[in-house]
Amino acid sequence: MRTLGVWDTPIKTRLREAQTAIPFTADTALMLPGPECLDIEHMLNEGMLARNSRGYAVEMDAEYSQQMADRMAELGLGAPEWDCLHGRVEDVEVELPLQFAYLDFCTAPSADICHWMIQQLNDQMTDGSYLSVTWLRNYRRNGFMNDFVRGNHLFRGTDFISTTRTMCEYTGFDLSPTCLILVALTRLCMPTCILEPSWIEPYRGDGGADMLGAAYRVKQLGERTVPQKLLKRLGY
Ligand SMILES: C[S@@+](CC[C@H](N)C(=O)[O-])C[C@H]1O[C@@H](n2cnc3c(N)ncnc32)[C@H](O)[C@@H]1O
Repeated sequence: MRTLGVWDTPIKTRLREAQTAIPFTADTALMLPGPECLDIEHMLNEGMLARNSRGYAVEMDAEYSQQMADRMAELGLGAPEWDCLHGRVEDVEVELPLQFAYLDFCTAPSADICHWMIQQLNDQMTDGSYLSVTWLRNYRRNGFMNDFVRGNHLFRGTDFISTTRTMCEYTGFDLSPTCLILVALTRLCMPTCILEPSWIEPYRGDGGADMLGAAYRVKQLGERTVPQKLLKRLGY
């Protein structure tokens, strides 16, 4: 049995509080609550989730996922309203339209996560829903992020780091290029949504790693408005 309490820290508490600053009760949610479900407990206490809310609680670690299901049961949440799933969230088929998603990854983005966000999450986030993410921002050893930043996939031929630096200067964003890249990537992963930021903050995470937390209100446009010219260029 692993030690609990890893995420019972001031910074995580502040992140959970940032989520619940909005006066809103989500009927449906997708969460990565970890073994202790501290976010779910906090959101139940603050009224952001109700006892009859439905959703997905996902955990990729086998031991944590058992602890998560046990804790969810103690909180009075389980089947059929809640799917407590052992696996990677990027393998989950999201069938429920979502009013809230708290993707507390604390990892760097991967190709699979981004594809899942584009293909599953984007379509199920309802108009007026809320999306929060936490990303690790030390991603220099991450092949996908290196490709993304260098432009091998999306920005071929541009120096994305210096472009973002210039963007920071022009827009007055008080974020490092590393953070802006994560913000830009999050937006690209939600192609039919406008993400209105309610809170974006770089922070030094538990264990010392650099993180970015971001919370958005989602305006769902519902249509992929990929310009015809671009589609033609991409060979569709
Ligand atoms: C930061 S902790 C969650 C803390 C929790 N949200 C809270 O506020 O107390 C992130 C959890 O998500 C799990 N996790 C990270 N990436 C995941 C993924 N891609 N799929 C499923 N679980 C994942 C980790 O194993 C970990 O238990």
